[in-house]
Amino acid sequence: MKILVTGGTGYIGSHTVVRLIENGFDSVIVDNLSNSKEDVVDKIRQITNVRPAFYKADLLDKESLSEIVKKEKPEAVIHFAGLKAVGESVALPLKYYHNNITGTLHLLEVMQENGIKDIVFSSSATVYGKPESVPIKEDFPLSATNPYGATKLMIEDILRDLYKADPTMNIAILRYFNPVGAHKSGLIGENPNGIPNNLVPYMMQVAAGKLEYLRVFGDDYNTKDGTGVRDYIHVEDLAGGHISALKKLAQRPGIVTYNLGTGIGYSVLDMVKEFSGVLGRELPYKICGRRPGDIDECYADTSLAKKEIGFAAEKNLKDMFVDGWNFQKTAER
Ligand code: NAD
Ligand code: WQD
Repeated sequence: MKILVTGGTGYIGSHTVVRLIENGFDSVIVDNLSNSKEDVVDKIRQITNVRPAFYKADLLDKESLSEIVKKEKPEAVIHFAGLKAVGESVALPLKYYHNNITGTLHLLEVMQENGIKDIVFSSSATVYGKPESVPIKEDFPLSATNPYGATKLMIEDILRDLYKADPTMNIAILRYFNPVGAHKSGLIGENPNGIPNNLVPYMMQVAAGKLEYLRVFGDDYNTKDGTGVRDYIHVEDLAGGHISALKKLAQRPGIVTYNLGTGIGYSVLDMVKEFSGVLGRELPYKICGRRPGDIDECYADTSLAKKEIGFAAEKNLKDMFVDGWNFQKTAER
């Protein structure tokens, strides 16, 4: 079965393409390389011995997308392509709405024009806004606290409306919690340009000596040690969740929505402790003020994904740091 993977050279997309190949799927990557590099395609070949088809194309260019789909004839789509930096989305909302919403509309139109009914969409725990309690279940109220989150919520709404209009579609909305880590080979991982916004990439650069210390954003949250608590999931586990979702779509379930997390919340200080253990030295940090927009705690209730698609994360926090650090060191060489 052939799968169109938008954003397939990106962080989560590349790990998912590896899993697709390992599970006997053919994949066709479409990516405009705005946040990834073409050499990822070769890294995927090094890991799997298979080179996936790759097209450098922008979802905003509907004509090119249409040509690729007509030529490759994929049977299903996994849609990762999008911009994802929260802070940048506040500064450049039009760029985010245009890229994420218009890009998705083009993709859905091209799917419709070619009779493709199955899609897996990368949503985010950000759609829960500031949750009233944890763990978070899929039926909790949804809200957006920034333009990036608003694009995820709007795309979810578009997919729900599309399903109402065409119940022959099969749609899996996957709400990722905090993806971290890298492929165990050290060949693919997350390597953001400039100073990272997210916790784990920042910690990696502190460990590599590129940044002096970690700034812990607030120690006065309503959590066990006052620092923010999140549900970090190994990107390889997350990639596996897409295979489970595709298998579910093959049973023609209509529209389904699942949290993909581990169900365990770790604080920033837990993360510092675990990574220091992996490094064999203390990771330097300083307690600083809160980052605007952050919430106390966010972790998943994972029971629905376990029950309906048999999804359960297998890797622990140590694996996430060992593999992430291995990638960081490989990327530096
Ligand atoms: P990423 O930036 O590494 O990958 C996204 C890819 O999409 C990039 O390779 C980029 O070049 C491509 N892209 C962006 N706009 C495009 C366009 N218009 N046309 C073609 N390609 C385009 O990000 P990621 O971390 O792999 O995230 C993948 C998806 O998962 C995104 O939709 C993101 O919002 C979502 N998500 C990510 C996280 C996270 O923390 N990483 C959490 C929840 C959800
Ligand atoms: C984690 C914790 C920070 C950096 C973001 C997006 C979300 C999703 C995942 C896409 C928080 C603390 C961080 C630092 C710190 N992305 N922190 N020092 O904010 O949970 O989620 O990425 O959908 O939409 O908002 O992740 O890694 O930025 O922060 O103390 O230098 O680490 O305050 O408690 P977040 P994060």
